Amino acid sequence: MKRNRFHAFIAKASAIVDRGLAEHETLMLVGREARVLVQRDDWLPPCFTSCGSVASRPHLLYLDPMERFSVVSFTWAPGQQTPIHDHRTWAVIGMLRGAEIGDRFLYEAGALKRTSSATLRAGGIELVSPSVGDIHRVANASATRMSVSIHVYGGNIGKISRHVFEPRSGARMAFVSGYANADTLAFGYAPQLATAEARPEGRGRHVTRDTPPAWP
Ligand SMILES: [Fe+2]
Repeated sequence: MKRNRFHAFIAKASAIVDRGLAEHETLMLVGREARVLVQRDDWLPPCFTSCGSVASRPHLLYLDPMERFSVVSFTWAPGQQTPIHDHRTWAVIGMLRGAEIGDRFLYEAGALKRTSSATLRAGGIELVSPSVGDIHRVANASATRMSVSIHVYGGNIGKISRHVFEPRSGARMAFVSGYANADTLAFGYAPQLATAEARPEGRGRHVTRDTPPAWP
C-alpha cells in the first residue's frame, strides 16, 4: 500500500483550503490534486472498500481537524445506484476503480429535470457544488464489477444535512449520512463522528422510508 500518495494529497488539499479561496478556485485546485490521487490504485486499504450493507454509507478516510473538508470512499456493488441527492457544499469525485454513470439534475419549482448524463472512468474527476450543479444520481456502470470512488467535500459531509429526491414527484427528504466506519479509526484523523439519521423535511410533501437508501 502506498499510503504516502494519500498523505501527500491531504497535505496539498489542506494547503489549498488554508488559502481561503473562492469556491470555484478551491474546486479546481482540489480537483487537480484529486485527479493525481486517483491515477494510481495502490493506496486504499481494502477495509475502506467493503461491500454489503455498510457500503451504502461513506467510509471516512480523513476529516480535517477544523472540519473544513472531508475525504471518503464509496464502494458500489455491480448495478447499484444512489438515489437522486444533493451535497450542499462543494465536492470533488475521483474515480479510483471501475466506472460510474452520473446523471445530473436541476431542481426548480419543486420539480426535477435531468440535464446531463456522463460516464466517469478510472482516473477521471467530476465537480459538484451549489454553484456548478449540486444534484445528481450515481450508478455503478458495470453489471459485474464493483466501483470505488474517492470524494472530497467542503465540510464534514457525515454531519451535513442534505436531501434525497423522489424522481417522479420531486418530493425531497432531508438526511445526514454519517459514516460507515464511525466506530473505527479513519485513515487519517477522525474526531467524534455523526451517527446516521434521516428525517422528513417540513410539512406536506415528504418521503418516508422504512430503510434508508444509499447515501452518497
Ligand atoms: Fe453525490
